Amino acid sequence: MNKKILVTGGTGMVGHALKQIMSDGTFISSTDCDLRNKEDVFRLYKKHKPTHVVHLAAKVGGIAANSNYLADFYIDNVEINTNVLAAAHYNNTEKVVSLLSTCIYPDKAKYPLTENQIHLGPPHSSNYAYAYAKRMLDIQSRAYRDQYGRNYITVVPNNLYGENDNFHLEDSHVIPALMRKIHDAKINDIPSVTLWGDGTPLREFTYSKDLSEVLLFLLDNYDSPEPINVGNTSEISISSIALILKDIIGYSGNILWDTSKPKGQLRKPSDNSKLISLGWDPNQYTSIIKGLQNTYNWYIINYPNVRGVE
Ligand SMILES: NC(=O)c1ccc[n+]([C@@H]2O[C@H](COP(=O)([O-])OP(=O)(O)OC[C@H]3O[C@@H](n4cnc5c(N)ncnc54)[C@H](OP(=O)(O)O)[C@@H]3O)[C@@H](O)[C@H]2O)c1
Repeated sequence: MNKKILVTGGTGMVGHALKQIMSDGTFISSTDCDLRNKEDVFRLYKKHKPTHVVHLAAKVGGIAANSNYLADFYIDNVEINTNVLAAAHYNNTEKVVSLLSTCIYPDKAKYPLTENQIHLGPPHSSNYAYAYAKRMLDIQSRAYRDQYGRNYITVVPNNLYGENDNFHLEDSHVIPALMRKIHDAKINDIPSVTLWGDGTPLREFTYSKDLSEVLLFLLDNYDSPEPINVGNTSEISISSIALILKDIIGYSGNILWDTSKPKGQLRKPSDNSKLISLGWDPNQYTSIIKGLQNTYNWYIINYPNVRGVE
């Protein structure tokens, strides 16, 4: 039987990347359907009758947005996830692939992060509301599986970046924030640019196009209740990212660090061995230099009509 795929969050960074590699499918935005509204979500499923759902939609943001809007991050994500899975169950949708995030792992976890640790302790205090909402997406998916035999799986990306990201100075993640600040310093001839933290934390970054390829792979190759880590596990410091971006952007000024600003967890390497054991080749991940170059090329072509800038 042919799959009829509905993609929630189809207008986001990952949604755009998935659209590039999918020949078919319905990609929806919040304008098509506010997923916080139960009746609208049930109407959406009635209209499209999806056999498969890739559930990307979420209220997403960096450290500042997560800590400033704790209640909004909690309630929006709980409502979105509750409705998307409930409507899938009601409509006998065959499979749902939902996204979690490595930032929902316990603050004090054993490294590398393995999927069995997700619920073994509180998340980092800066994003606990988003993290618990995402953890409940795992619980809801498992509960539907255990009670009704539903094939709802959850996927755990690490830090994502790529074309169509959010470049807002306060609401964005680290890569778009750095790219925008260094680009702005270059075009305005500013001699130095000050970045948050001290640059020492190590992070793993996955290019959005790579994640979209993993998602299609898992639609066919993973049907188990446990979440699955899917990110590129090469670690790189934030200061190295800044230097690569300085080079790509062609900025000749200085990079300074504002150590009064939060820097987040020191490191959080993840274990993607389960994904690799399914046959995913880690050589398929795009190198950080190529991914950043592609993203910056897209940024300057589209500037200033870029999310968070315009
Ligand atoms: N970005 C990361 O670094 C990262 C890391 C790990 C996991 N993830 C997860 O990956 C998934 C995709 O992230 P992303 O970076 O692509 O996010 P994004 O670019 O911020 O896109 C969010 C998407 O969700 C939609 N959305 C938000 N609120 C909605 C609502 N109330 N009703 C309907 N749609 C709504 C947005 O629609 P509009 O365009 O209409 O607003 C947009 O399509 C999310 O589940 C996120 O938690 C992201």
